[in-house]
Amino acid sequence: MGQVHNEIIPGRVLNSNMPDYDRAVAEFTWEDAERHFSWYDTGKVNMAFEAVDRHVLEGRGNARALLYSDASREEVYTYSDLMERSNRFGNVLRKYGIGKGERVFIFMPRQPELYFSLLGILKVGAVAGPLFEAFMETAVKDRLADSGAVALVTTPELLKRVKREELPELRHIILVGGDPDPDPDQGEISFEEEMASAPSDMELEWLGLDDGLIIHYTSGSTGKPKGVYHVQRAMIQHYYTGKIVLDLQPEDIYWCTADPGWVTGTSYGIFAPWLNGVANVIRGGRFSPLDWYKSIERNAVTVWYSAPTAFRMLMGAGKNSLEGADLSSLRHVMSVGEPLNPEVVRWGEKVYQQRIHDTWWMTETGAQLICNYPGMDIKPGSMGRPLPGIEAAILDDRGNVVPPYTMGNLAIRTPWPSMMKMIWNNPAKYSEYFRIPGWYISGDSAYMDDEGYYWFQGRIDDVINTSGERIGPFEVESKLVEHPAVAEAGVIGKPDAVRGEIIKAFISLREGYLPSAALKEEIAAFVKAGLSAHAAPREIEFKDKLPKTRSGKIMRRVLKAWELHLPAGDLSTIED
Ligand code: WTA
Repeated sequence: MGQVHNEIIPGRVLNSNMPDYDRAVAEFTWEDAERHFSWYDTGKVNMAFEAVDRHVLEGRGNARALLYSDASREEVYTYSDLMERSNRFGNVLRKYGIGKGERVFIFMPRQPELYFSLLGILKVGAVAGPLFEAFMETAVKDRLADSGAVALVTTPELLKRVKREELPELRHIILVGGDPDPDPDQGEISFEEEMASAPSDMELEWLGLDDGLIIHYTSGSTGKPKGVYHVQRAMIQHYYTGKIVLDLQPEDIYWCTADPGWVTGTSYGIFAPWLNGVANVIRGGRFSPLDWYKSIERNAVTVWYSAPTAFRMLMGAGKNSLEGADLSSLRHVMSVGEPLNPEVVRWGEKVYQQRIHDTWWMTETGAQLICNYPGMDIKPGSMGRPLPGIEAAILDDRGNVVPPYTMGNLAIRTPWPSMMKMIWNNPAKYSEYFRIPGWYISGDSAYMDDEGYYWFQGRIDDVINTSGERIGPFEVESKLVEHPAVAEAGVIGKPDAVRGEIIKAFISLREGYLPSAALKEEIAAFVKAGLSAHAAPREIEFKDKLPKTRSGKIMRRVLKAWELHLPAGDLSTIED
């Protein structure tokens, strides 16, 4: 069992409308959230309408929606601007015959055109598939092929990583940043040209609550990445948690630092803020402590949502990295993606005068489930308590609820509005999550204390969480064995003070190859070029032989035990 923590940071009144958690919940219920949406009267819905057009129709078109900046651009878009741009893009897609249910992927840097495209995709009822800009050839191909994407929005630069000859279903390539000229014979279309000639109004596609919204690919411990498929209904939870957890008020200036390639960058970087009608700060470019602090100051950010690795890097950069930046606009700060160290919570109190509120959820859950909400007492190191209306439990492997302080499977009672509706092309994987009737099994281990707070303990499977990115060891191992020197590879997460975990690979070499530092570098670079930089092992160790089961599966558990100098546990299935 994990360490029991007793420290409590008392809750604080965040704004006059929400004096404490219980009152907030009484004042804004799940039912209120449902009743807010148009389908409540019409039976039909569209996320892009609710997040954008509706504000315009209700007279808030001049409110600021998107505050964008990077090293070379600084642009402000109102809700009317967003409506116009996304209408145009929706019309472009229609012109090329793209419509309801088809998958349209986006592979480009974080910039305003990404957001216009995503909203336009939703307006024609297509399913959006955002990809990280950092993905390389194999990672891009696997996701486009599995989803059967018919169109891709990308840049000429990134297009070089798209193996079109292996993607027969991919009919249209929409190129942002026009130069070099698109080749119509290859299905290439210029974003700028098409947008200029497309009509600025459109009749959007009305959908049912169970029609598709978005696919996010995420990693498990076995097999290729899984396409987690979400539907329109998720908006109920995005809207609700935007109020209850993010505490969004009409005047707020909100910044979620996540990329839309990650579910946090869509559920909380697009849907929750825009459903709630706030000004949404988007920053392109790379992480830099001073730029981030200046971004908060310049935009007067009031609500800030980021991740433990970022907070640890900011903490590592020290108080001096503030360089006098004024963070006094901040009213509410949250974290997601990995365990938030108590030390970081204490540091946030000291340096930002802000309690960092931890939130727990997953790509599969679509939205927050266990959280520290405004006004609630925070126990540093705990993920908080289940949202009202959400039932969580710790189960043993047979599905029995275990007593407080006992470690087990973190599970959620099914269903909830933003729960994934399928794993694309893989019903077997989907049902694994629901193997205990009535429950969703998260794959995390945790315990609950006697006040109903949940404490994260680790993953039950071999999934690696490095800098908040979920990496499947299988995907990395598959890439490693494609290298001519590699006979076999086993990949684990090794604890790291800043990144949470780093990727470590154990490798046995083929005949004729000798271990060397140069070979390690070459192998790491090979993964980087094929998958992405964050999937490349930071450490490689050569071994003559890797521990395997008799059925030939590499035993990552044994590799981990080697690494941590722990007993290897049950070895009854090991090969020899
Ligand atoms: C981990 C989507 C500890 C966890 C947001 C989960 C966390 C996985 C927390 C999901 C937290 C997420 N404390 N661990 N507050 N939040 N995790 O789908 O292991 O990329 O199962 O994140 O991240 O990763 P995903």
